Amino acid sequence: MSLELHENVSLQPFNTFGIHVSARLFAQAGNEQDVREALALAAERGLPLLVIGGGSNLLLTRDVEALVLRMASRGLRIVEDDGESVVVEAEAGEPWHPFVQWSIAQGLAGLENLSLIPGTVGAAPIQNIGAYGVEIKDVFAGLTALDQQTGELREFTLGECAFGYRDSLFKRQAGRWIILRVRFRLLRNAQLHLEYGPVRQRLQEMGIESATSADVSRAICAIRSEKLPDPAVLGNAGSFFKNPVVSAALAERIRAEHPDLVAYPVGEGEMKLAAGWLIERAGWKGYQDGDAGVHRLQALVLVNYGDAQGQQLLDLARRIQADILQRFGVTLEIEPNVL
Ligand code: EPU
Repeated sequence: MSLELHENVSLQPFNTFGIHVSARLFAQAGNEQDVREALALAAERGLPLLVIGGGSNLLLTRDVEALVLRMASRGLRIVEDDGESVVVEAEAGEPWHPFVQWSIAQGLAGLENLSLIPGTVGAAPIQNIGAYGVEIKDVFAGLTALDQQTGELREFTLGECAFGYRDSLFKRQAGRWIILRVRFRLLRNAQLHLEYGPVRQRLQEMGIESATSADVSRAICAIRSEKLPDPAVLGNAGSFFKNPVVSAALAERIRAEHPDLVAYPVGEGEMKLAAGWLIERAGWKGYQDGDAGVHRLQALVLVNYGDAQGQQLLDLARRIQADILQRFGVTLEIEPNVL
């Protein structure tokens, strides 16, 4: 037995909101064998298994009556290389941003727009992380997961993951699959994505004419650091709501009253609205109630100013949802997993 099991462990260091709740049992898995041991131990004790990565997409509202298993497996390797395109494989417990930096240092492009996203490699496919015009699905080459129901390993191809906007099969079948390692197809000759919002402009300001993936990564880090709070300094879980997709008719009705509405066409007769804009326009940006608040620079991000409880943050989110529904007729969906 290599797995170290601990009783009644505070999860505060293991969730980026910094919420104080405890786990009935807690362990860290360094490899597949540890994961299997944890599954057996949880079954023995009659507790569910709750697998976490960086805890950066999680809102904990009460003590967790489960065996909380933090994925801590490490390892990065190149598994295919045809000179132009390369498949890299990363273990689930690898922290995301250092992995992105490693790939750039290998001269590989594809992940630069996803720089500085908190969390781990294994959690990334669950919500199909995305930023500045790129999502995991765009560079995804496969993953290996353990089926909690059967104990068998299964390989997933892109199509089988059913990726959508902040969505996947693994999110919809929560509690079934434990992602062990993920593969990405990256390119030696960068095909950079600079179209999204401020990216190209930021590169110009940095005096860069012909950008490399390292330049794009630096630009994205600068943009993110300006707008998004660092969880090490101010507890948060990134965007707390998804950007809602509404009918073009509803978007037009809102625009008639608010000509500066931020909206992008997606598919037939549908528009994606910037939830941050709606929340800011409704007056919530910078709002604070005790230690729970709405970030003062990015209204989509809820923050813990110190000792906020998960329930307090959830109550604030519910008030925002009700207000946005009442004012604009738009339903906001919560993005992180609420437990
Ligand atoms: N906006 C406002 N007020 C705000 C925030 C945003 O008016 O308080 C407006 C901006 O001016 C801009 C538009 O909304 O016109 C979009 O803002 P931004 O580019 O900052 O991105 P976002 O839609 O707020 C999404 C992702 C982020 C991702 C960025 C960049 C979601 C839920 N969020 O945010 O992802 O980093 O785009 O691609 O899709 C995350 O998922 O945790 C996350 C941070």
